[in-house]
Amino acid sequence: MTPAFTTDVLVVGTGPAGAAMALALATYGVDHVVITRYASLATEPRAHITNQRTMEVLRDLGVEDRVVAQATPQHLMGTTTFCTSIAGEELGRLRSWGNDPLVQAAHDLASPSRMCDMPQNLMEPVLVTEATRRGTPLRYQTEYLSHREDADGVTVTVRDRLRDDTYEIRARYLYGADGGRSRVAENAGLPMRGEMGVAGSLNILFRADLSDLVAHRPSVLYWVLQPGSDIGGIGMGVVRMVRPWDEWLTIWGYDVADGPPDLSEEFTTDLVRRLVGVDDLEVEILGSSAWTVNHMAAERYDAGRVFCGGDAVHRHPPSNGLGSNTSIQDSFNLAWKLAFVLDGRAGPGLLDSYSAERAPIGRGVVDRANQSIGETARIFEALGLAGVDDPARMRANMAARRGSDPDAEKQRRALREAIRFKVYEFNAHGFELNHRYVSGAVVPDDGDAGLRPDPLPATADATLEHVATTAPGARLPHAWVTVGGRERSTLDLTGDGRFTLLTGLGGEAWRDAAAAVAADTGVTVDVVLVGPGCAVEDPYGDWAARREADGLADAGALLVRPDQHVAWRTAGVPDDPAGALARALAAVLART
Ligand code: FDA
Repeated sequence: MTPAFTTDVLVVGTGPAGAAMALALATYGVDHVVITRYASLATEPRAHITNQRTMEVLRDLGVEDRVVAQATPQHLMGTTTFCTSIAGEELGRLRSWGNDPLVQAAHDLASPSRMCDMPQNLMEPVLVTEATRRGTPLRYQTEYLSHREDADGVTVTVRDRLRDDTYEIRARYLYGADGGRSRVAENAGLPMRGEMGVAGSLNILFRADLSDLVAHRPSVLYWVLQPGSDIGGIGMGVVRMVRPWDEWLTIWGYDVADGPPDLSEEFTTDLVRRLVGVDDLEVEILGSSAWTVNHMAAERYDAGRVFCGGDAVHRHPPSNGLGSNTSIQDSFNLAWKLAFVLDGRAGPGLLDSYSAERAPIGRGVVDRANQSIGETARIFEALGLAGVDDPARMRANMAARRGSDPDAEKQRRALREAIRFKVYEFNAHGFELNHRYVSGAVVPDDGDAGLRPDPLPATADATLEHVATTAPGARLPHAWVTVGGRERSTLDLTGDGRFTLLTGLGGEAWRDAAAAVAADTGVTVDVVLVGPGCAVEDPYGDWAARREADGLADAGALLVRPDQHVAWRTAGVPDDPAGALARALAAVLART
């Protein structure tokens, strides 16, 4: 069969991973085509928590404002409430998603972008609309079936679901962003480790105006403890805000051994009313589905010319809100590498760094999300509910904490501690930002005098605390600097599909070094000087403080990759700056 058409990159899927890849490739001017099985983008809200790193990625890709315009803002996200029903008794609250004042300060210091709640059915159109506007060709109703690879590329067989026939597409690389049942990953033989179907869960999407019940404690999540809420699911029953405050989703577990219940209108309406705690609640059921909690990740994300990202390679429950975030960030990591390899600025070895950098993060996300489910059991234990299913005994055990005896005091303390411990699910700021890449696309410090090593290993709690560093492999730290007097983030000086070298006064030699490297290799490095009288100034001194703490002098150099991770650094200007920069870039870009 002659291929119907050829392209450099064929992207399968328009979920967060595929849509982000399309947007990045379109932005970088890479020839690509996107196919997706269905006639539309996601119609269900699905993933929603959008963390700061993802917002930074979207900022670099030029769509942050559009997401902010539609998302529920951070300040309405975080009074996580534990209760017997929304209208019922409250067991406690936890300020979440950066809404604790101390964590809020850490958020403000860490990033120019704010976390928000952006349901997937709103996120995908933003990404896909902008990608197609920038040139992404997109074919709906086109299903990936199989592929075969040879030395020069991949021939992919797809089915046109409208015509019900098959045809072939020839691509130099294939990106499988085809979700948790990825056929691309399966056909590529990616090694998966873990278990699917660990627990059963139900989603019920509904419309009901709950403003009166929630407006005084705004949150995206209300956790409901009732008989049966410890069976399956994600640790407890959940009522999730989709749109404030009239569109919602309940999550409720079922015993995976018994299979899902019949999701009749009567069953779903009853369940919604029970979790909300209003017997005659006026409710419109918009949809329902059964799904399973998975604990599975791929050991490698690539096989030859085939790469996978998103749920195709990390399958986990929504706890910690990392699904769509991790998927978007996978694509952001790979897109610039494809761009550089395809136009010859990098050797194909650069692509090996994708799996090396992202697979450990995917594994960590899968483990973290599943661990969070287990940690919810502490709340049941604190209330004396572990293994208790008799509603009367449950009520009595919970009521005991209102007593004035020492046991009641102990129970109250245990409950407070159990709820507070959920910060590891709802305020895991470090886990969201402390990514450290270790691969051939990062040059480790060579013992350069004065450079301070990455403080992360010594940090007390890297899950909760963001640890800023300019160490190779870390995301470039954010600091507010000014351009023409206007505040810009250091992150805004970088990205946009190109390498940037940040330096300061005395570092003018890096300009000549970058020019020599560009003349020799065609790789452009933007050199940005930060300091008084430079195009970029540092009036607060925050950037200088960061640099100096890490041992970088004004004239030192920080080479930042297009995905805003540090590729290489040096404390000052070496004898041969052009040679040093050329060697670093050759290593990062796998140029032989
Ligand atoms: P995603 O599954 O989003 O996208 C896969 C894409 O590939 C789709 O466009 C699909 O049409 C396409 N595709 C699949 N097979 C194909 C083929 N053979 N050929 C062509 N195209 C193909 N997370 C969360 O945090 N909170 C939540 O409440 C939920 N709820 C939820 C509900 C449901 C029903 C699902 C399926 C998932 C969730 N999730 C979730 C998980 C979250 O949606 C998930 O982590 C991200 O969507 C992952 O993004 P991806 O782009 O990797 O896959």
